[in-house]
Amino acid sequence: MSEYYELGKEADRLADSAQGQLEFDRTKEIVFRSLPAAPATIADIGGGPGRYALWLAHLGYRVIHRDLMPLHVGQLTAAAGPDSAIESRVADARRLDVTDASVDAVLLLGPLYHLEREPDRLQALREARRIVRPGGLIFAAAISLWAARLDGILRLRLYEQYPEMTEVVGRVERTGVLEPLHPASFCGYTHRPDQLRQEVLAAGLEVVDLVCVEGASFLLGDLADRMADAAAWRVVLDAARALERIPELMGVGPHLMITARRP
Ligand SMILES: C[S@@+](CC[C@H](N)C(=O)[O-])C[C@H]1O[C@@H](n2cnc3c(N)ncnc32)[C@H](O)[C@@H]1O
Repeated sequence: MSEYYELGKEADRLADSAQGQLEFDRTKEIVFRSLPAAPATIADIGGGPGRYALWLAHLGYRVIHRDLMPLHVGQLTAAAGPDSAIESRVADARRLDVTDASVDAVLLLGPLYHLEREPDRLQALREARRIVRPGGLIFAAAISLWAARLDGILRLRLYEQYPEMTEVVGRVERTGVLEPLHPASFCGYTHRPDQLRQEVLAAGLEVVDLVCVEGASFLLGDLADRMADAAAWRVVLDAARALERIPELMGVGPHLMITARRP
């Protein structure tokens, strides 16, 4: 994982493609509709270079940002500036240096992608549960089990560069483990929707909502053109929203988002 993030590509990921913008717009929408009003304290765990942390600070929230990669903490610290309401440090989602029940909500938009072992994922969810106040919400994102086939094979045609992709994708769908295609490629873990729900329950949390973030629109060949046209982009977002909770369609999109509550 660190070889991939050391390449430094994560800083622009949500802004350099229509697929990234779709993920960013829909994630903000899903989080914002249940977030406590500002000012409140939000922990952004696995927050990467801080796109969501900066968005939240801009809205008037105090943000506690943690990430495993020093590069990402450095990028956010530079972008946020010295007077920012963001406190950013290197930390592991499984062992956080954050006081019990000290935050109003937690974003966990990354660690579950990379923790291949279930005990590690449960530990990250339990840490989020520990730091949020009773009744507070945790927004946890996961990669869909079928993302490698839908995104890697259908959309990106990765099999042209990596012929072994066709075999790899079969293994991903059996094990959930997203194997690296080359030493510095993205790797991690993928979830079925119900598996994500069961893990959240096993961590002692209540499930408030479970939605598909992007839906099938991420596959559109003309997504960038639609993004450039406000009315067409609204249709894309409306479609994702309309179908976000249909159980039969839940896995047809790269990301899932579960909203959980600390009892
Ligand atoms: C795909 S990026 C997502 C970043 C950001 N949350 C976003 O959604 O744009 C995943 C992030 O999770 C971080 N990460 C992975 N495992 C982690 C762990 N165990 N503890 C803390 N951060 C972790 C990575 O360093 C990376 O910055």
